[in-house]
Amino acid sequence: MTSATSAVRPIAPIDLAAERAALGSALHEAVLRVLDSGKYVLGPEVEAFEREFPKLHGVAHGVGVGNGTDALWLGLLALGVQPGDHVVTTPFTFFASAASIALIGAKPVLADVDYDTALLDPAKARAAIDARTTCLLPVHLYGQLADMRALRALADEKRISILEDGAQAHGSRRDGYACGALGDAGTFSFYVTKNLGAAGEGGMVVTQREDVAKAMRQLRDHGSPTKYVHTRIGTNSRLQAIQAAILNVKLPHLERWNERRRSLAARYTSNFKGSANVAPLRVEPGVVHGYHQYTVRVRCELGRDAVAAALGAEQIFAGVHYPSPVHLQEAARDWGYGPGDFPCAERLAREVLCLPIHPFLSEADVDRVSEVLLRVAR
Ligand SMILES: Cc1ncc(COP(=O)(O)O)c(C=O)c1O
Repeated sequence: MTSATSAVRPIAPIDLAAERAALGSALHEAVLRVLDSGKYVLGPEVEAFEREFPKLHGVAHGVGVGNGTDALWLGLLALGVQPGDHVVTTPFTFFASAASIALIGAKPVLADVDYDTALLDPAKARAAIDARTTCLLPVHLYGQLADMRALRALADEKRISILEDGAQAHGSRRDGYACGALGDAGTFSFYVTKNLGAAGEGGMVVTQREDVAKAMRQLRDHGSPTKYVHTRIGTNSRLQAIQAAILNVKLPHLERWNERRRSLAARYTSNFKGSANVAPLRVEPGVVHGYHQYTVRVRCELGRDAVAAALGAEQIFAGVHYPSPVHLQEAARDWGYGPGDFPCAERLAREVLCLPIHPFLSEADVDRVSEVLLRVAR
């Protein structure tokens, strides 16, 4: 076949081969070092990562766990959230943010997002707080931090805690603060596709609070402060040494890789200037965006899904994060919500399109994605 399409290089949301090539032999050497050491769970690689990752975020402590969902689940337990408590979170996120609350028998109480940022609206969070609320769980969606100064003031006024979901916010900042600096704790995922990704799964809870870090170290290890002594009910969710070794290799590159994402994002934004049908989300003042995703709202007659399919036909693979808001998922049927309850989240679920963005994309790639999108989104 000699069609124009078959000759075009695909543009995907992630390029792991390019990342591996950029790192040379460092990843292989790190993995072999762990294999030769015989220390496969926790150990020196995990300790080094638990030192360096929180430091980069200006946070005192980090406790590595199995994945980002466990970080949320155990983070809530470490903050003392109990069955029956209310935890206020956003309806527009990956389902795990809300499911982690339900996992411990607490109630996810949803408050709508701002349509222009897709982030938890502090005024709506305030209205959702009641006498049973013990915690706020904002999500730093796509790599833009929620308004943590406003949420911190709200939590202090109501005497409740904050667990920040930073699964998409490695290295991101707002008003100079990173995830975990203003909240009582923050969580990260190191799933493969994240800005800092393991070769599989990984997660971390970061916190300024010594008591929360101590609780986390026990919760991830069978509630056990020392071998065969169990002071609380915990689980087995320990970061694996091979994953930590890989993360230790990649961590020194994170700030530069995020800087590259910001540069490509600025090019997208400039390309879409003046378009009525392709509207990038707003970036708030004081935000240093990590651009885990570069997200636009597609507002044309054709509709977002048809636009995504048209991009796919031209070898451009965009994502939809997320096609359904949390409250309309079948698993949330007992939470007491229905269609129309969160209009901004519902509209975003119909309109958002996450365009390819990663450090190994070229300016020409960004221009091709922009040109095709502007052409098809009519
Ligand atoms: C916002 C958000 N929260 C939580 C998670 C869960 O992380 P993990 O997949 O590591 O369990 C993710 C991962 O995709 C996420 O994007």
